[in-house]
Amino acid sequence: MKILFHALALPLAFHLLSLAHAIPSPEAAHGGSSQATNTTDDAMTITPRQSSCLSTGTQSTINALFSSGGANTIVSLCPGVTIPITAPIVFTAPGQELSTQGYPTDSTRATILIQPGSTVTSAIRGNWQNNVKVLNIQVDGNRPNAGYLGGDALLEMGGGTEGQTVSHTVVKNTRSWSCVHFIGSGQEDNPCRQATVTFNEVGPCGHEGTDSATGNGLWADGLSIECMDTMVTDNTITGATDGGIVIFGSPGSQFLRNTIISSSSSGLQFGGINMVDPTWSGNYSGVVVSANTITGGPGSFINLGIGMGSQVWSNPHPETNFGQVTVTNNVFTGNVGFSIVMNGWLGGLTVTGNSVSGVTTPSSSFASASGCGAVQQAAFADSKQLVYYPAGVTGSSGPNVIQAQFTALSTNASNWLCLTNPAPPLPDTESFLPNTLSVDASTSRVVSLRDFHVQVQGDGNVVGIDTTGGVWTVKWASSRFSSACGPDGSQCLLAFGIDGNFVMYDGNGPLWASGTDGSGQLLTFLREAPWVTVTGGNGQTLWTIGNL
Ligand SMILES: *[C@@H]1O[C@H](CO)[C@@H](O)[C@H](O)[C@H]1NC(C)=O
Ligand SMILES: *[C@@H]1O[C@H](CO)[C@@H](O)[C@H](O)[C@H]1NC(C)=O
Ligand SMILES: *[C@@H]1O[C@H](CO)[C@@H](O)[C@H](O)[C@H]1NC(C)=O
Repeated sequence: MKILFHALALPLAFHLLSLAHAIPSPEAAHGGSSQATNTTDDAMTITPRQSSCLSTGTQSTINALFSSGGANTIVSLCPGVTIPITAPIVFTAPGQELSTQGYPTDSTRATILIQPGSTVTSAIRGNWQNNVKVLNIQVDGNRPNAGYLGGDALLEMGGGTEGQTVSHTVVKNTRSWSCVHFIGSGQEDNPCRQATVTFNEVGPCGHEGTDSATGNGLWADGLSIECMDTMVTDNTITGATDGGIVIFGSPGSQFLRNTIISSSSSGLQFGGINMVDPTWSGNYSGVVVSANTITGGPGSFINLGIGMGSQVWSNPHPETNFGQVTVTNNVFTGNVGFSIVMNGWLGGLTVTGNSVSGVTTPSSSFASASGCGAVQQAAFADSKQLVYYPAGVTGSSGPNVIQAQFTALSTNASNWLCLTNPAPPLPDTESFLPNTLSVDASTSRVVSLRDFHVQVQGDGNVVGIDTTGGVWTVKWASSRFSSACGPDGSQCLLAFGIDGNFVMYDGNGPLWASGTDGSGQLLTFLREAPWVTVTGGNGQTLWTIGNL
């Protein structure tokens, strides 16, 4: 119970007292009961005197307490309460803390909830204050009800600070691009540093796809960290859709024992842990990524488990990422397209002991590489999980130590963020009611069935082709040719008319017909004989392509 111990290190009595004074009716707030200071059987666990907690209010109530309380003020929310907000909660002095009374780790953690109709995306702003803490609460961006909105992250921490903490906190449903962001300071002599991000439950964050109105990506990160010498450990990130943890440079930071899982409710997740951005001039010196578990969950997948280097994301950049980094003993399971890809790194890597034996194979059972380059497609077809381009991974400040299972690419391939959901399987048959099929030879495709394709050609011929294995074999043809299809083929029209007649027209009129006018009810294409049928009201076959 490290957190309680930390809390005790603060001048608790004074600040809880001042909080009590700030609340109009402390008795109503906590039901009049008061827990005496005492030790429990766990010598490390000391329950502080809880004179009061905040049982009702909005961001204004909390912000007023922080403003009047000054440094080290603790705003302690009562267990179970929900604080609706329409603007951010802002830390105003060093050492301030927002937490739930008694530091619970279950669903009784107090909830900060963004209200629908508001334009706020950041529920909490660390606001460049040293040593501020967000502990044991729930922060809900309420995206399902408040809606997607571009803007700052749900928790916006960091800046030129040291010692900020976000622990044992639930952060979910961000409206914007990230659930938790530790922003950099842009100041070399005053970087974001020594933060602690531990034991949080993050996600869902974002959705697959783009906003139809704005074209903006709906996806979002779980944790976006641009803070050096920081500990990011023991977090569980479920249903992030951009990167589970995005490391923006952040020299000296450690990312340990985190669990990252994609979720079918939020959809495709791009990355598990990203080391791809050129932030901090690409400086990742001393970063450690170890003992994390990255799982592509059922009904979803993670495209890239750990991406390392300037060349692996969808936006390759010319600067090479650098730094001696350690990526060890991470475990990849389930639907992960590529577990670790490295290209665009300088400085000596230790990448060992990473396990991919639990990844689903073949990769084509959960994703498609049809939008990828040739090198990526080949690696995907072979379910290659650990790949790197040796010429793009060079060590200047130490040798690279890379585990033997890595496949060395002979070609410089960029953009491994290219997997998509597999296309749904094609049907074995496709049927049309009268007046629902009309295709001319300028469009050509009549139907696509599983390993089968029917097309109308610019010479008036209608052809059924087996495409199994990419080899095209003609299985049937109408073999009634026309020279009156027009220059672009649009005069040759295949239609199942409103009268139930299946007719091929050219520029001169009907070329052939099924003769089922008045009786044809359904036109069906099949991937096997009899290939094309027109059936009547009782399902009886009236005509097949063989009758032509
Ligand atoms: C602390 O707990 C012990 C054992 O449960 C009890 O005897 C004692 O009265 C308690 N002290 C206070 C101040 O509540
Ligand atoms: C990378 O960052 C580390 C830590 O701040 C620093 O010591 C080192 O000088 C940086 N390297 C370069 C090339 O900027
Ligand atoms: C790989 O290709 C990228 C993009 O063209 C280029 O910037 C990079 O230098 C290449 N890497 C190597 C090792 O040639």
